[in-house]
Amino acid sequence: MDKFVIEGGKKLSGSVKISGAKNSSLAIMPAALLNNGLNSFTNIPEVNDIYTMIKLLKHLGVESSFENGNLSLNTSKIISQDAPYEHVKKMRASIYVLGPLLSKYGYAKVSMPGGCAWGPRPVNLHIESMKKLGAEIELKDGYIIATAKRLNGAPIHFDVASVGATGNAMMAAALAKGNTLITNAAIEPEITLLAKYLEKMGARIQGIGTNKLEIEGVDELMPAKINNISDRIEAGTLLIAGAITKSKIEIEVDEIDNLNAVITKLKDSGARVEVLANKVSIDAENLEIGSVDVATSVFPGFPTDMQAQWTAYMIFGNGTSTITDNIYSDRFMHVPELVRLGANIQIVKNSAVVKGVKKLQGAKVMSTDLRASASLVLAGLAAQGETEVLRIYHLDRGYQRIEEKLKQLGASITRAATAEF
Ligand code: EPZ
Repeated sequence: MDKFVIEGGKKLSGSVKISGAKNSSLAIMPAALLNNGLNSFTNIPEVNDIYTMIKLLKHLGVESSFENGNLSLNTSKIISQDAPYEHVKKMRASIYVLGPLLSKYGYAKVSMPGGCAWGPRPVNLHIESMKKLGAEIELKDGYIIATAKRLNGAPIHFDVASVGATGNAMMAAALAKGNTLITNAAIEPEITLLAKYLEKMGARIQGIGTNKLEIEGVDELMPAKINNISDRIEAGTLLIAGAITKSKIEIEVDEIDNLNAVITKLKDSGARVEVLANKVSIDAENLEIGSVDVATSVFPGFPTDMQAQWTAYMIFGNGTSTITDNIYSDRFMHVPELVRLGANIQIVKNSAVVKGVKKLQGAKVMSTDLRASASLVLAGLAAQGETEVLRIYHLDRGYQRIEEKLKQLGASITRAATAEF
């Protein structure tokens, strides 16, 4: 079990390159199950969730090789359509194999993913969309058992814009017979990248990047290559590392438009943010941090995956800020840990109300989930004295060696083994 030991109060400087995006990787990797051949991916982050997905795909018969961000997945010999609990319980995104397996092989048995640290994570929209495409669905012993001789294109409408359900429906529809119209589709960048990858395989999709997707099913899809996008959440997290420590830093990142909501809010807080071709610089030296309200929403709104990090930043605001999560109403496991450092935060329904304080005092805090642990690291960077962040296996799921990136920027942060759980 590892922990981070952080000596707070250090000014940061310099530049760091953002890794490939975790969430888009977890969408495009299972899509390879729609073809039978060698699929190549570049700019895939070396984070634990990727290895978890590789293990699950291996269980299905996929051969892989993965080094320096280059991943290949050979789907020539699929031997199973069963995604067992021991794999799926580790990562909810495993449900992404449902659509491709069902559509390509007419059968899929996928464990229900269960909840996560901050609450239930339903999959009803995934199941409903498979039914709409003609699948027989049985829920038995905690498994989704889906069968269909061949899926038939159909209209699908999502009452809630769901990234995962949109991805599953799009992948299933790509090999269905006939046309599928998906309305209120998620438009997160990971869905746009997935659609582009499916197109490269030979799928016929209209409306990519919009919340209305028209998919004309084809009989076969071919292996393809795709370059992954930058991780907008890692980018936003590191920009806040610069802001919260009142430093001047630069990040190297692509698809900067995906960061617009976060950059706008950082500017609203008084930070000087400059956007260049594939770089974003933030200058928060001598900044009096303005308290800025945030309400998360689906893309291109402020991402729920940045809510915990923003809450950490607003600890030092010059007034009171209200941070509302409209996607996950109970995603506040980081708050009690931040309060242990001296933050003044009240949870009111699905909002964190943050009254600015002058300083935090380092302490031992515990990670509970991926983005909560990122917020604890950010607070530790700005706290006085030493902060220990425990259970950083949560962080390792979605950030590629974040301590090395932060050290490169001048932070005092070390990874240490601990028997403490
Ligand atoms: C994706 O999860 C991301 N994960 C999450 O990032 C992210 O927080 C989330 O999208 C929202 O942006 C990956 O991409 C691997 P949703 P997903 O389906 O697809 C409700 C991280 O930190 N819903 O868009 O599971 C759901 O409860 C992770 O990197 C249903 O009601 O999210 C939520 O309120 C955490 N029924 C809303 O939709 C369903 O069947 C959005 O969820 C599915 C979802």
